[in-house]
This record gives sequence, C-alpha cells and structure tokens, in this order.
Amino acid sequence: MKNNYQQIISSIYSEIVSGENLGEIPNYISELANISDHKFGVAFLDLNNNSFGKGDFQEKFSIQSISKVFSLILVYKNLGEKLWKRVDVEPSGNAFNSLVQLEADNGIPRNPFINAGALVICDIMLEIFENPKNEMLNFIREISQHENINFNTKVASSEEKNGFRNAAMCNYMKSFGNIKNKPEDVLDLYYHICSIEMTCENLSKSCLFLANGGKNPKNNETILSSSKTKRINAIMLTCGFYDESGEFSFRVGLPGKSGVGGGIVALFPYHYCITVWSPKLNLKGNSFRGMKFLEEFTTQTGESIF
Ligand code: DON
Repeated sequence: MKNNYQQIISSIYSEIVSGENLGEIPNYISELANISDHKFGVAFLDLNNNSFGKGDFQEKFSIQSISKVFSLILVYKNLGEKLWKRVDVEPSGNAFNSLVQLEADNGIPRNPFINAGALVICDIMLEIFENPKNEMLNFIREISQHENINFNTKVASSEEKNGFRNAAMCNYMKSFGNIKNKPEDVLDLYYHICSIEMTCENLSKSCLFLANGGKNPKNNETILSSSKTKRINAIMLTCGFYDESGEFSFRVGLPGKSGVGGGIVALFPYHYCITVWSPKLNLKGNSFRGMKFLEEFTTQTGESIF
C-alpha cells in the first residue's frame, strides 16, 4: 500500500471530531430529526481486503439518496441503454428536490440521482419486477454480503406524510407520460427504498464492485459490465451531490453519492471504497463533516481520479 490509510483516517477523524460540526439535521423526515448530531463513522475497504473503521462505522443509519445508486444499477442491468430515454445524465445544477426544469424538459429528469429521476427509476422497477421491494433488498443483501438489510417502515411513512413535493413531482411527470404506474405506488416504493438502513461498513462493501470494473471483489463474478460501471461512476462524479457535485469533484476528486441521512460513499476506481457518516448537513443537503473528511483524505493520500 502506498499510504498508511489507517493512520491517515485516524488522524483526520480526531482532527474533525474536535473541530466544528456545522449544518442542520433535516426535519422534513420527522423520524430522522432526533438522531444524535455527534454520530460520526468512517469505513475504508480496498480491493486487497484491507479494511479500517473508525467511530460509529458499525451503526446503521438511513442511507436515503445513496440508495438511488442501487436502484439505478438494478434498472440499468435489466433495461440497458433504453433507460436513457426516460432519464437524462446531465448535472441539474438545482436542488435535489427541485421541480423547476421538468416543464422545459417535458417531464424527463436531468439525471437519476435527483428525486425526479429516482421516481422514474422506481416507476420502471414497478414495470419490470414482480416484487420490486424484494428485488431491491435481495440485490443489496447480495452485494453487501449481509442478510440483515431492511427498510425502516417508520421512516418511510414519516416521509410520506410530508411528501407533498415528491408527490407533486411524480404527478407532474405523469402528466407528461413519463410515469406509467399510479403515482401513489411509485411514491410508496421510492420512500421504502430511501428508508433502507445500512452501516458505513455495509456501504463500503456494497459499493466496492463499482471500484472493481463491476466485478464482485470476492469471486470475480460480473455484477455489472465494465462499460455500465464506468457510466455509473461517471454519473456519481457529475451528479452525486446535486448542485454541489462540482464542488465535491473540485474538493475531493472522486465519484461519490450522498444522502440526507448524512452518509457519503466515495470510490477510488481500481483501489478502494470509503464511506463517511455524520448527520448534520450543509445547505445543499450534503454531510458537513463528511465533505470535510473526504477533502482532507484525498489531500493527505494524494489520491483522486485526476
Ligand atoms: O425524497 C427525499 O427528499 C429523501 N427521501 C431523499 C433525499 C436525499 O437523500 C437527497 N440528498 N441529499
């Protein structure tokens, strides 16, 4: 190993934990509002099976939008390139829950990682899978090599109660013909997928194949073709942090994905995967400490895709 990752992770962790913890825990999902803002975990896993964890890396949290990577992969594997007729691959430059571009773009979301795009992915899941909820859990259980991954139905229903904006988005896309199923069924699947709970350790394990050309690092079996894997990584780099994707790329320089539960997963292709969790979010909805940690990490390791 070129770097002593364990030492670098420990020293950045100590520095950040004693520094400022700015931002807010989102309160529009009431079940998530009471989480302790001191939670902070990091899990590193490389392709040589070296792994290091720090802090709350074995505690489950709500992965929220990070799940959009997994639902996209499931649909992309099944539908192939036809998928891109229903959702584009351009950074939106707008908030993750914005509706503003949908009218000009005829109900085609800019990318699969904003809420509108993830709703279209859920709509396709309802079309192609008999039981999309099971399909999703089975896929994540397989890639995380962990059986105990589930939805948190309390989180899903608490979000649904306040989900007026997502409902508006889904109905609006239906009016353009880009939602085929009943909006309430699409929203129910979407909220369940967002409510999946995993640890930093589970997430690093689940995403390691994306840093391995799409092959399962354990047995070298193909989970996703190398061409599709490249494209998922590209969308993570350009769209994984909503209207802060440029900033993440600029400061960190790795493909990644965040969620409003405070998690961020990032990949150094052909080397490793690293996940950070800290619940307080900056104004763009990305973990304040997570962004800071990963910026410091790539600065100290000297490793990024650029
Ligand atoms: O639909 C929502 O608003 C949430 N379930 C997911 C949003 C999310 O994680 C975006 N992240 N920054």
